Amino acid sequence: MSALSKVLAQEIRKIEDTHLVEQTLQKYRLTHHLMPPAGWLNDPNGLCYFKGRYHVFFQYSPFEVEGGLKCWGHYSSEDLIEWRYEGAPLLPDSPDDCHGVYSGSALVEGGKMHLFYTGNVKLDGDYDYINNGRVTSTIHVESEDGIHFGEKAVVIPFSAYPADYTCHIRDPKVWKQGDTYRMILGGRKKDDRGAVLFYTSSDLRAWSFEKEVSTEEPFGYMWECPDYFELGGRGVLSVSPQGLEREEYRYQNVYQSGYFLTDVDEKNPDDGAFRKYINDGTFREWDMGFDFYAPQTFTDGKGRRILIGWMGMPDAQEEYINPTAQEGWQHCLTLPRELTAKGEKIYQYPVQEFDALRMECCKLNSETICDAGKAQNMKKVRTNVAGPFDLELEVGGDSTEIHLGADLSLVYENGCAELKLSEEAGAGRRRRKARLDELKEVRIVADTSAVEIYLNRGEVVFSTRYFPAETKKYLEIKAEAFRGRVYALAGMTFSL
Ligand code: FRU
Repeated sequence: MSALSKVLAQEIRKIEDTHLVEQTLQKYRLTHHLMPPAGWLNDPNGLCYFKGRYHVFFQYSPFEVEGGLKCWGHYSSEDLIEWRYEGAPLLPDSPDDCHGVYSGSALVEGGKMHLFYTGNVKLDGDYDYINNGRVTSTIHVESEDGIHFGEKAVVIPFSAYPADYTCHIRDPKVWKQGDTYRMILGGRKKDDRGAVLFYTSSDLRAWSFEKEVSTEEPFGYMWECPDYFELGGRGVLSVSPQGLEREEYRYQNVYQSGYFLTDVDEKNPDDGAFRKYINDGTFREWDMGFDFYAPQTFTDGKGRRILIGWMGMPDAQEEYINPTAQEGWQHCLTLPRELTAKGEKIYQYPVQEFDALRMECCKLNSETICDAGKAQNMKKVRTNVAGPFDLELEVGGDSTEIHLGADLSLVYENGCAELKLSEEAGAGRRRRKARLDELKEVRIVADTSAVEIYLNRGEVVFSTRYFPAETKKYLEIKAEAFRGRVYALAGMTFSL
């Protein structure tokens, strides 16, 4: 370990230890979501299942609560419930990543964990850092135990990327297909359109450019954090585009994350060449809430395709002042979600391990309730919740309302689901909408200051941070018919 690496590691530990002492004063601290030990967290990185443990790395800026110099933080778990903080294994301590160890992924192969990430370097000078002044390369490190990592090796230098790209090429996701290793990178082309680049390798060290895939008309100017996998016999290309125009029911956040259902290896029937363009009409957002970006997926020992997203949003300061910054930390990751393909949609649902945290419950059943709501045929129930809970509900009729005190509500009517936050709980954010033909089931996992809402077992999801004044509040449900339970949740364990 170099002297610089040693000093960086010590400084990070010092900051984390100080923060640990201050934890009891943090009102918004989470009990069911992975958050940074100190400072800032963004994208999930290096997700994998390795030698009997799940590994979740993340973009971590312990030095600055508003984000800044990035390293990778690391949690691991045997069961996705009891988590252990493993420290910050990848530091910005080499000439190729001295302005940030940016996002990347893991591949488990030959008994080793291989990590691939983007090393970010900003040159000194008067640059725009889009078209000039930035050097990004793809770097590989490997580990025998998943905790200690070896030498960093640049496997794709900046100079080898195609010439029609800006300096924004990053976030390698690597997987194995047959005997070949494949990599996908996200990028911004010089003509300001987002695209992904595919590379292949036979040994994980030498990588050759294979092809580029984009849309025929520009679909945003940059695609970050790409992922590609097959699910239910379909190809799924996931990207986080920047630069889409806001609409009433789509693209409501500053940046988006979603997927195209497309086989990227399909060839043109006429000339046998790879198809360069995909149809942007198939793009579907992963999540309709305020806080969801840069998701990544992996398959675990049970063969499940699991997705974790960043429960945050870059560059959202215009509408949002996150109050946890005053507590010395910002952002978290979503719960691990199992993906399933149904028709033209991918459904997301919390992994079943999470159910083990459910404790005593309260039954909610409209058949035994006489209290009429606004409309004659509406039934209403109100119960108190104190602390994190998990609500599971079947609903009937054309409209449903769920209120979490006066802070958060979900209203479904006329084929539209709307999430509303009060002024205080939203910290500047007020509403998000999603179209949905029919609402049959609602699940809400509510943490201290993070809520995940799953409609129809994950057909539509809203993930959002919210900042309620009180932890004790009422939960009110109104619908023509409903049946379900609300469970108090035992805490997840996080050993720091
Ligand atoms: C997405 C992103 C990535 C980049 C990382 C830097 O949120 O901008 O493209 O690698 O964050 O932290």
